[in-house]
Amino acid sequence: MARTSRLPGFYKVTVNERRSLVCEATGADPREIEAALEGGGLDAETADKFVENVLGTYALPYGVALNVRVNGKDYVVPMVVEEPSVVAAASNAAKMVRAGGGFRADVDASLMISQIQLYDVKDQATARARILAARKEILAQADKAAPGLVSRGGGARDIEVRIIGTPEDKMLVVHVLVDCKDAMGANLINGIAEAIADRLAELASAKVGLRILSNLCDRRCVRVTCRVPAECLATDDMDGEQVIDGIVNASRFAEVDPYRAATHNKGIMNGVDAVVIATGNDWRAVEAGAHAYAARSGTYSPLATWRRDPEQRGMLLGRIELPLALGTVGGTLRVHPAARLSLSMLGSPSSAELASIAAALGLASNLAAVRALATDGIQRGHMALHARSVAVAAGAAGDLVAKVAQMIVEARDITVEAARRALSVAQCEGDAATLSED
Ligand code: MEV
Repeated sequence: MARTSRLPGFYKVTVNERRSLVCEATGADPREIEAALEGGGLDAETADKFVENVLGTYALPYGVALNVRVNGKDYVVPMVVEEPSVVAAASNAAKMVRAGGGFRADVDASLMISQIQLYDVKDQATARARILAARKEILAQADKAAPGLVSRGGGARDIEVRIIGTPEDKMLVVHVLVDCKDAMGANLINGIAEAIADRLAELASAKVGLRILSNLCDRRCVRVTCRVPAECLATDDMDGEQVIDGIVNASRFAEVDPYRAATHNKGIMNGVDAVVIATGNDWRAVEAGAHAYAARSGTYSPLATWRRDPEQRGMLLGRIELPLALGTVGGTLRVHPAARLSLSMLGSPSSAELASIAAALGLASNLAAVRALATDGIQRGHMALHARSVAVAAGAAGDLVAKVAQMIVEARDITVEAARRALSVAQCEGDAATLSED
């Protein structure tokens, strides 16, 4: 069956009905969903195997973004995030992008950088030349430290030697570029760094410093573009052409102001991180890499930009580029049942395919944010969704959640206090209706 990510009315049905719809759309097994998601999927005993001093687990909402099409393929995309409106906004933006043909992604090979720092280097230029001359030997030694990776077609591909710091630092850093295939690669890369460091120090007549991966994995970038027809962007008050101008203006603001770029990128990471977490990947590594990449020119800049399409004037053109080290094999979190479910719902993607999906969600989240900011402002939609959690915090349950949320949105007072008052009114109305039926 062809997978679809178009599930109209999905948000209106119950959690159980949504599970069935997702099973039909993705081929996921209902029992797997039940087992992976009830109670967050991880009991205290299993959690105790992951980290230290465990007291329990901490659950987060697990939703799915709909309408997502990347390189012509549909995905129901798992998102783990606590912030209201992120999942809805990404789904809505993905629908607009779909009308323009979907996301187009292009991903580098899974090259990670293993850094070996050498210090007390007597003559940096000679040391550099000697290490480069031993390139073949170093690569072979690196491969020997990761036989499993080599058997899966990966392995060490190249070395670079950088003279860094001031001459007084007497420092060199060697980068070994390793193709990690479908692994995130942290353990492989750290193992390689430790295995070859002594030989490098010998060649450089230097001492071994740090041996660790770099999270600025700028050889493992993903680029995603999308086009959105103007008419899909229109709001009640603005036509699509005006919205395109507003979004381009928002992009320029982020391009010239790091204060705005930080918030712009935060909105992108709303989408990226939610997928990274749902698939059991290391979101701190992804965050570190993304922000270091955003600052690579020396000025902190937006990871995604927007322009009017020069070839089709009635189209908005968006582009994102960022490093993404995501694994779909190995790693402790692959034993997390919810992470396994996420990967299976995505059709067991390769690392590159997963990076395309996560980056597409980043671009979708950014589109939703800049469109809202350039039109109605962010608060209207955001507060309407936030009102549901406020209603729950005030004690509303079942049908009363939506009712109380609507009442406090209409009263423009989205506070727990207002929700408590609305809840008593809604309960009284409910009691009165029951009595009159009796
Ligand atoms: C909120 O989580 C994200 C936004 O602030 C992003 C942005 O301003 O572009 C809405």
